[in-house]
Amino acid sequence: MAQEAALDIRITIPRMPEAQALTPYLRRIDEARYYSNFGPLVREFETRAAAHFALKPASLTTLSSGTAALILALRASAAPPGTLCMMPAWTFSASAHAVREAGLTPFFVDVARESWALTPEIADAALRQAPGKVGAVMPVAPFGAPLDYQDWDAFADETGISVVIDAAAGFDTARPGRAPVALSLHATKVLGVGEGGLLVSRDEELIATARSLSNFGFQHGRNSALAGFNAKLSEYGAAVGLAALDAWPVVRTGYVHLGQACAAALAAIEGVSVMPGFGREWASTTCNVLFERPETAKVMQDLAAVGIESRRWWAEGCHRQEAFLACPRTALEVTEHLAGHTLALPFHLRLRPAQLNHIVISLAASLGSAVDAGTEVAAARTG
Ligand SMILES: Cc1ncc(COP(=O)(O)O)c(C=O)c1O
Repeated sequence: MAQEAALDIRITIPRMPEAQALTPYLRRIDEARYYSNFGPLVREFETRAAAHFALKPASLTTLSSGTAALILALRASAAPPGTLCMMPAWTFSASAHAVREAGLTPFFVDVARESWALTPEIADAALRQAPGKVGAVMPVAPFGAPLDYQDWDAFADETGISVVIDAAAGFDTARPGRAPVALSLHATKVLGVGEGGLLVSRDEELIATARSLSNFGFQHGRNSALAGFNAKLSEYGAAVGLAALDAWPVVRTGYVHLGQACAAALAAIEGVSVMPGFGREWASTTCNVLFERPETAKVMQDLAAVGIESRRWWAEGCHRQEAFLACPRTALEVTEHLAGHTLALPFHLRLRPAQLNHIVISLAASLGSAVDAGTEVAAARTG
């Protein structure tokens, strides 16, 4: 058997602020001697992050992770424990873990072929197939893609069901309305602090409740008025967040240009398309491709043999994760198709044009596909 090549083109290399950019913020922590509990850096980070969404600071709260943001969004929106939370099967397992932690049961439904996302139309139809009371719906913005946020507010108004949006990777695209939007600040996201999360909504009361839940349910001083836990972001996390926001315009441009370069290069391969909307005007840290034929496993192996790492970020779909096998579901035709036909390719700001060329040529060779002869991979700018 041929020896496996070292994977020298990695699937992801997070772009986080480096020590020099952090120093001024760390000095402020040293001076203030304030380390957590909504200190000055957390408040400044919240104000700037809210401004990014063109919202007031009261519309946003920081949290210890995106998963915590989802759990607290469900709890703050009073999604009744013991009911079902309708959610797409095409998502990361964190979405379903959060549903369970909030006391609801995941009810997996399918996504639209055109967007890879749950839509209000699919949700409407699935309500009639639910095996119990649906207490919440959790749409997911796949890999940070834009969603119709207003349509989800309309869905919540029409049905009276709480909507909590999982836009873990959607810092660039989220347009929060009243339905709370949970974002992840994990290092692998476009804006990362290591581990952290944001919850954003125009419903300021809901945000205040989630904030209280993240701080032992404290309200009016040290009275635990609500049954909460500890899901706060530390001042150190906020320091990284502030430095990340300083770099955001450059980093964003880097990801957008890289996405455009990758989409253009991959378009040259027959039988391959990029995820819907990828390579347009929004920043993402993942490049997923869709194959015409179900060749994911073979392609992964072939790429690994020439030093290219690839990943099935959402594996076979959330409904096939062992912890969720017993959860109810509808027919999942599109999800099953995506699970068998998609693969994420290396995508990070250190990716060089020669490496992108190597990926395109190796992918085409694995698929036995032609590559458009004129393809010359555009230089990918690395911020
Ligand atoms: C779709 C989705 N939801 C939720 C999460 C959880 O975010 P975190 O890792 O910050 O808890 C992730 C993380 O990548 C995700 O991809």
